Amino acid sequence: MAPKLSQSFLLSVLVFFLSSILAATHEDPTRRTMEEFSGYPTVPLHSFLSLSPSSLFVDKESLQRQIDELSTFSDTPAPSVTRVLYSEKDVLARRYIKNLMEQAGLSVREDAVGNIFGRWSGSEPALAAVATGSHIDAIPYSGRYDGVVGVLGAIEAINLLKRSGFQPKKSLEVIMFTSEEPTRFGIGCLGSRLLAGSETLANALKETVDGQNISFFGAAKFAGYNIHEEHLSNVFLKKGSYFAFLELHIEQGPILEEEGVSIGIVTAIAAPASVKVEFEGNGGHAGAVLMPTRNDAGLAAAELALAVEKHVLDSGSVDTVGTVGILELHPGAINSIPSKSHLEIDTRDIDEKRRNSVIEKLHQSAIDIAKNRRVKLSEFKIINQDPPALSEKSIINAMEVAAQHLNLSHKLMISRAYHDSLFMARISPMGMIFIPCYKGFSHKPEEYASIDDIANGVKVLALTLANLSLD
Ligand SMILES: *[C@@H]1O[C@H](CO)[C@@H](O)[C@H](O)[C@H]1NC(C)=O
Ligand SMILES: *[C@@H]1O[C@H](CO)[C@@H](O)[C@H](O)[C@H]1NC(C)=O
Ligand SMILES: *[C@@H]1O[C@H](CO)[C@@H](O)[C@H](O)[C@H]1NC(C)=O
Ligand SMILES: [Zn+2]
Repeated sequence: MAPKLSQSFLLSVLVFFLSSILAATHEDPTRRTMEEFSGYPTVPLHSFLSLSPSSLFVDKESLQRQIDELSTFSDTPAPSVTRVLYSEKDVLARRYIKNLMEQAGLSVREDAVGNIFGRWSGSEPALAAVATGSHIDAIPYSGRYDGVVGVLGAIEAINLLKRSGFQPKKSLEVIMFTSEEPTRFGIGCLGSRLLAGSETLANALKETVDGQNISFFGAAKFAGYNIHEEHLSNVFLKKGSYFAFLELHIEQGPILEEEGVSIGIVTAIAAPASVKVEFEGNGGHAGAVLMPTRNDAGLAAAELALAVEKHVLDSGSVDTVGTVGILELHPGAINSIPSKSHLEIDTRDIDEKRRNSVIEKLHQSAIDIAKNRRVKLSEFKIINQDPPALSEKSIINAMEVAAQHLNLSHKLMISRAYHDSLFMARISPMGMIFIPCYKGFSHKPEEYASIDDIANGVKVLALTLANLSLD
């Protein structure tokens, strides 16, 4: 009991100091100096707080430098970033992250597919750890903050806690997930899905190749991961391996910036699904074949694309969304009636049933359209159909308390994009912190988050980690 009490006490003192320092920055510098160095009358000096309180600050300069340095591991020129799974640049970036983890005094391990873990052992290392992390892979011509803020920011949160003299009880762990983006193999959140124990994915990877017909295993080998099929299940983590999982991320939407709110606390992550559809018709000459005798696979695709919009709007909720991001016609010549069409449909909702009902209606529409247009529905394949994830109440509370202590404005919100947290939620209680980003831009070079906003997110993350570590 005694160590627990004193640790909670240390945490409250830490919280108090962070908030008083934050408050003090707007005030008379003489007073600030007094507060900083005297400890102020009501704060008893304790060992770790006898350190310079300025060490409780986020080291913005090095954090920004790290973000900028990491962005140079890119296959396209700045300001864009392109860092694809198991490419040479990805390997260099991974080395960079492992180095930072080691410099932070974390013990680093890597699993078979290259998920990287940096652990700070707590005073009770047998307890399930509190983990936080995100990804550093970047889709072609994207920006430098998506994912990166949640990895470099997590390492900085650890550094902040270490500088403050904090001692974790449950271990704290930073995770860098392999391939959150589906760029190379068409599979999003590859690393976290495997950690969450996806047998389906482990099996699918045996057959998976990229656009250059390079196998998953071949690509991994190039990056120094000599994976054998039977190793994939070693990646799986048991439920309960973590006491909690947290992720810091840019919002990738405009709400926080527009409303001038510093911190978004995510209550749920929308459930994504994607469907691949193919129609086949007879094709033919664009001049010679008369309209009544055509069976145009392109028009079937066009009609289905409109049906996506209709079914999504019919759900009656703004939370239901659907997109046809890929629509390809074969042979793709101006004077040829399309004989084949290929669509890829993305649909999401925070309500899984409602989203699944959209998919069922789409399937029925595809059948009807094929019948009416006398084309063949040669494929209707659900590629993935993931459930949504809810954040854990107690983690939401801890984040709110942290933001309040730091006097940061905050609001509860839904994550409409998915993240590694969606899959970590299958094996651990989960919570996410959003920070504002410029105009909500993401997945393009204009993506930007200010270092002050990032630092706010790091502080909330650090305090929440500290809280959960002692809880
Ligand atoms: C908290 O923030 C508000 C609004 O920014 C400000 O008016 C207030 O002085 C701050 N309080 C402290 C203790 O910093
Ligand atoms: C891809 O590679 C496999 C094995 O190396 C080969 O059998 C197959 O024909 C290739 N496919 C294409 C489209 O090149
Ligand atoms: C953690 O935060 C919760 C609020 O959600 C609070 O009740 C609890 O006392 C905190 N734990 C510690 C160890 O500070
Ligand atoms: Zn991301």
